[in-house]
Amino acid sequence: MQPASKANQHTTRISAHLHPPNFQAKGTALGFKVAILGAAGGIGQPLAMLMKINLLISVLHLYDVVNTPGITADISHMDTGAVVRGFLGQQQLEEALVGMDLVIIPAGVPRKPGMTRDDLFNINAGIARTLCEGIVKSCLKAIVNLISNPVNSTVPIAAEVFKRAGTYDPKRLLGVTMLNVVRANTFVAEVLGLDPREVDVPVVGGHAGMMILPLLSQVKPLCSFTPPEIEYLTSRIQNGGTEVVEAKAGADSATLYMAHAAVKFANACLCMLRGDAGNFEYAFVASQVTELLFFASKVRLGHTGAEEVLLLGPLNEYEGAGLEKAKKELAESIRKGVSFIKK
Ligand code: 2OP
Repeated sequence: MQPASKANQHTTRISAHLHPPNFQAKGTALGFKVAILGAAGGIGQPLAMLMKINLLISVLHLYDVVNTPGITADISHMDTGAVVRGFLGQQQLEEALVGMDLVIIPAGVPRKPGMTRDDLFNINAGIARTLCEGIVKSCLKAIVNLISNPVNSTVPIAAEVFKRAGTYDPKRLLGVTMLNVVRANTFVAEVLGLDPREVDVPVVGGHAGMMILPLLSQVKPLCSFTPPEIEYLTSRIQNGGTEVVEAKAGADSATLYMAHAAVKFANACLCMLRGDAGNFEYAFVASQVTELLFFASKVRLGHTGAEEVLLLGPLNEYEGAGLEKAKKELAESIRKGVSFIKK
């Protein structure tokens, strides 16, 4: 992931020589147009590669403030249908976004050991604002999947940018928390001795530490856990990001599994745009489930976006206490995001 300060360096138009105007690869099925903002970063690169093999996508735009020529050239050699174009530097942001159906944003700096996601606020808040201003100008009807941390604050920032422009539709702004569900499914499956694909763990709240609330009483298939298992699983799910940050020892935060989770969520969004019914996923969205303005919950994805935010269902005492603690911290993260734009 790249610092914003390099935004205007080495700006060249790199799409033209890769693909002439109106180029459409022979045999390319008509599909969705997707942009990745932050495509040269640790999450962006594997995400771009996985999206290039996605059969639902016909056009893939890769934007970043450095290194997109190389990433684009590399990925464009894959013999799959999606046409790839690269865009470099802030001058090309609006062009990168024209006509996009889905915009995925992993841009920003990652954590290093000892940092919280909130420590990224000072850099990533500005990046999120700039990118959302580009969306307002070029593709105001696009579905936005926001990954940049702290998601608890960048989603409120995006909402404020869209509100100011008069383009805000809460159904189309989705903070990606699928990563917590993916992690939770993996860890819970290990304890139960099951294949993770058979396990469905609801994870609600926000995306940082104890704001990540796994609802282990609602795991499917129906099961029960001992108190030590509940403590272990809750802590591992809440601190999964830190586990990877420490293992990578300063090199990055989670990127590979993160890209997998982002693709799972993006696919759900593309299926929703295609009109598939009955698609439910977890996301950090505008919400009335609690008194907070935003909350991660299960949402029903319909062809206009997150059309319904589901209630949390029955919580046990442990989960209820966790919810009360999480809400206090989450309220502060949301407030910080909103006031960043209002200031
Ligand atoms: C994580 O939880 C990067 O926030 C991300 O790993």
